[in-house]
Amino acid sequence: MSKIIGIIGWGSYIPSLRLPLTDLAKARNVDPKKYLKGLILEKMALPQPYEDAVTMAFEAAKNALDRSKVNPEDIGIVVVGTESKPYSVKSVAGIIKDLLGCSPYAYVGDYDAACAGGIQAIVTCAAFIKSGLAKFGLAVASDISEYEFYHPGEPTQGAGAAAFVIGKGNVDVSIENFVAYSTDTNDFFRRSEERYPFVYGHFSEEAYLEHVIKTHEKIVSTRSPKPDYYAFHLPFGKMALKASKRIGLDDEEVERKVKPSFEVVKATGNQYAASILNVVIHFLENMVNVGERIEAISYGSGAQSIGIIFKVEHDLKKKVNLAPTLNHYLRKSKLVDVKYYEQRRRNLKEKPLIFGKIEPNSTNGVKRFICENCGMLLSPYTIKKCPRCYEKGENFRLREIFYPFKAKLLSFEETEKDVFEEMLKGKIRILEEETENLKVGMDLKLKVIKLKVEGKNGLIHYGPAYEKQE
Ligand code: CAA
Repeated sequence: MSKIIGIIGWGSYIPSLRLPLTDLAKARNVDPKKYLKGLILEKMALPQPYEDAVTMAFEAAKNALDRSKVNPEDIGIVVVGTESKPYSVKSVAGIIKDLLGCSPYAYVGDYDAACAGGIQAIVTCAAFIKSGLAKFGLAVASDISEYEFYHPGEPTQGAGAAAFVIGKGNVDVSIENFVAYSTDTNDFFRRSEERYPFVYGHFSEEAYLEHVIKTHEKIVSTRSPKPDYYAFHLPFGKMALKASKRIGLDDEEVERKVKPSFEVVKATGNQYAASILNVVIHFLENMVNVGERIEAISYGSGAQSIGIIFKVEHDLKKKVNLAPTLNHYLRKSKLVDVKYYEQRRRNLKEKPLIFGKIEPNSTNGVKRFICENCGMLLSPYTIKKCPRCYEKGENFRLREIFYPFKAKLLSFEETEKDVFEEMLKGKIRILEEETENLKVGMDLKLKVIKLKVEGKNGLIHYGPAYEKQE
């Protein structure tokens, strides 16, 4: 792959709730050392009830766009790797593309390649750019990993999202080499009607190592210079130690080139497709110098590995603080207990909610249409009719509304009323549990959330809410 194609912006997102694995070990009657030392994990990142793969993908993509300074309208392709799609039929890429303000002419698609989907998204964007089909691409990975309670995989659960803006020419990090290796391997799979995967756990470790070593061997055969860092897919930290041993790294190399990535997995658990992308971001934000290389080898069960050699072309320090860093999200954590974690899985009811009025503090933001009859929010790019009212033979006016990325809080109150009813009155959800934590005049930041879920089979309404600006 041409040296001049690569990363021009990156972004992460990790949900802030964390379950300490020492607590889970106690609840499951397991020696905590098994999780902390045996697997090399510490905390499990858990999404808020209003978060899912779409909302996390939006946050990471927005951060990547802010770092790249690319106008969203210039993005020609948006690809999302995820195995936690909220819809079986309807792409995550299509939803976040409109929320981000990318053109309706941008190509959109999702990859469901287990944990290799994020790296596949990068390669696809790079290929589009190389062939001239797109000027800029947005490669995103977003996942929530879940196993049944008491399953051996339970302590490895986690969540997170990561995104790269891919471009050509004056890139920050070039894609120097690329290798793919896949086989039809039955180590881990999930049938479409099932919530949880079926896993042959120890066999999956062998499958991971086999695919990683085969990919690494091919990269080495292309005589790429020895990398300065190794980014592996991290279902848990121990897998990277096993992979490092198989590819022949010595203890000093493991310490310097691999172990810094444990900061990510220990604070989040398995982020599936986003795992390796956030490891690369951790190296970019904290470790690398100009001219250094990262060998990134993903593993997606089923099974495939994709290896990419990234080469740092510019000093990245100036770009790091253009958006919230991965370290910011790793630190921003609110501890929850096993009781909360178990209730959350059974769909915790979050009521009453806080709604407020805001005034804009920025000129850019998210545009939506609101149906003046039922309050449904719609993309400004879609047909100018509300689907629910149209189906009933009614046709009401759609009003354009603008939600700024930054705002000031004007008023707020707790309410049990329907979210669309409140939005029709010009109010917006404020993401705070207690009204005592809010003050009129405080600075707020837009966050895309699940505003409303219409039962098990109905629509999921994604739209803006506001949280405190830090
Ligand atoms: N103190 C210290 N270490 C301890 C310990 C203790 N008291 N008790 C156990 N250990 C060690 C074990 O020796 C073992 O380490 P080694 O592998 O180095 O020997 C480690 O802790 C884990 O112990 P077990 O193998 O006994 O654990 P388990 O069988 O309960 O679960 C697993 C392990 C099968 C991998 C399980 O976590 C699982 O099913 N995970 C989901 C699948 C997965 O993540 N596979 C990884 C490769 S596939 C992939 O990467 C794709 C993906 O994202 C899913």
